[in-house]
Amino acid sequence: MAIQSILVTGGAGYIGSHLVDRLCTRGYSVTVLDSLEPQVHRSGTWPSYANPKVRYVQGDVRDRAVFEPLVVSSDAVVHFGAAVSVGQSMYQVDRYVDVNTRGTALLLDILVNAKHNVQKLLVASSIGVYGEGAYHCATCGPVAPGIRPTEQLAERDWEQHCPRCGKHVISIPTPEDKALYRDNIYSMTKYHQEEMVLLIGKTYGIPAVAPRFFNVYGPRQSLSNPYAGVAAIWLSRLLNGKQPVVFEDGGQLRDFVSIHDVVDCLVLMLEKSGADFLPVNVGSGEVVTILNIAKLLARLLGSSIEPLVTETGRKFDIRHNTADITCARTTLGFEPKVSLEQGFSELIEWAKTTPDAAEDFFDRALRELQDKGLLVTGTAPQ
Ligand SMILES: NC(=O)c1ccc[n+]([C@@H]2O[C@H](COP(=O)([O-])OP(=O)(O)OC[C@H]3O[C@@H](n4cnc5c(N)ncnc54)[C@H](O)[C@@H]3O)[C@@H](O)[C@H]2O)c1
Ligand SMILES: [Zn+2]
Repeated sequence: MAIQSILVTGGAGYIGSHLVDRLCTRGYSVTVLDSLEPQVHRSGTWPSYANPKVRYVQGDVRDRAVFEPLVVSSDAVVHFGAAVSVGQSMYQVDRYVDVNTRGTALLLDILVNAKHNVQKLLVASSIGVYGEGAYHCATCGPVAPGIRPTEQLAERDWEQHCPRCGKHVISIPTPEDKALYRDNIYSMTKYHQEEMVLLIGKTYGIPAVAPRFFNVYGPRQSLSNPYAGVAAIWLSRLLNGKQPVVFEDGGQLRDFVSIHDVVDCLVLMLEKSGADFLPVNVGSGEVVTILNIAKLLARLLGSSIEPLVTETGRKFDIRHNTADITCARTTLGFEPKVSLEQGFSELIEWAKTTPDAAEDFFDRALRELQDKGLLVTGTAPQ
């Protein structure tokens, strides 16, 4: 029987809410399970963009009593409810593992032990499972270096070295089969989530897909959450007349993908079988330095504020990681459509109308990193 009802955990959040809207437009019956995590939803209420066609249930993905009845009455489950910050996970270890890993374990336990009709399972994975991206050494060929040693960061030697010959290496797009190295607790939990979901999916014949999101940006991204994505953090700084703070030299390469392209890809994963039982990169395929993102944001805002390049590293950061999206293209026919310029213009127009943007908690988050000894070289910028 075709999929009609879909449960989206974390569906009040940024990515989930966009997916939920699209699913309603496509005629699905959608239920959201979301705890309204205070760090994300400061009002403690359902967001203003909540969709009237959706059934919203406030509850925790670690609570079987609320989760199980919703799972067993759905034809598909999209599991996005999670604690979402790399930096914070390094000092809230218990909470991150509990919500992300154990929450997913509970979902799988329900699927294995309860009678249900779930025909598709999606779990949000992340670029974080790779650790560093893929690299090419002029002498040794393709290589997969690990996290840079603290001493290297202290010397402001930002670029990766070849793990075999020690020479500097260049970044290449990361395919799904690159060796995985988790360099922070959040990424470990994302890895647990995808491994567990794909394993149980294969074992019990439940088609499962683990989208590995690269840097997703767009409207509804939390601007007041200093632990969220870098583009939102910088935009919020710029709107508050402050400089975007750039770690290292700003030359880090990333793949920023519009939320609309992400939703396209998720719908393909739900409706087609080509990517079943696979982890799949979800990116734009476009490579950009983070310094250029900071500059693009300022330009599109018409602001003359320059980014503050700190030449300070964070111990858990990777240097480069960009998406090879061949798998999504070939298995699902995915094709990203939104350019950086279009996508960031849209983000900015939305940000100007959201009261969230008026507050900037970044300095506090930076102090926390400093207090925990996670910053390398010099002192933190003011
Ligand atoms: N935004 C990105 O660029 C990105 C990148 C990689 C992976 N992801 C993953 O995508 C998913 C969605 O991320 P997002 O950016 O929309 O984050 P978000 O914080 O906006 O949304 C997460 C939602 O989950 C809810 N939630 C948190 N803990 C919960 C719990 N214990 N029980 C029920 N609900 C809970 C929150 O209230 C929130 O509404 C997450 O799993 C995240 O790890 C996001
Ligand atoms: Zn080499």
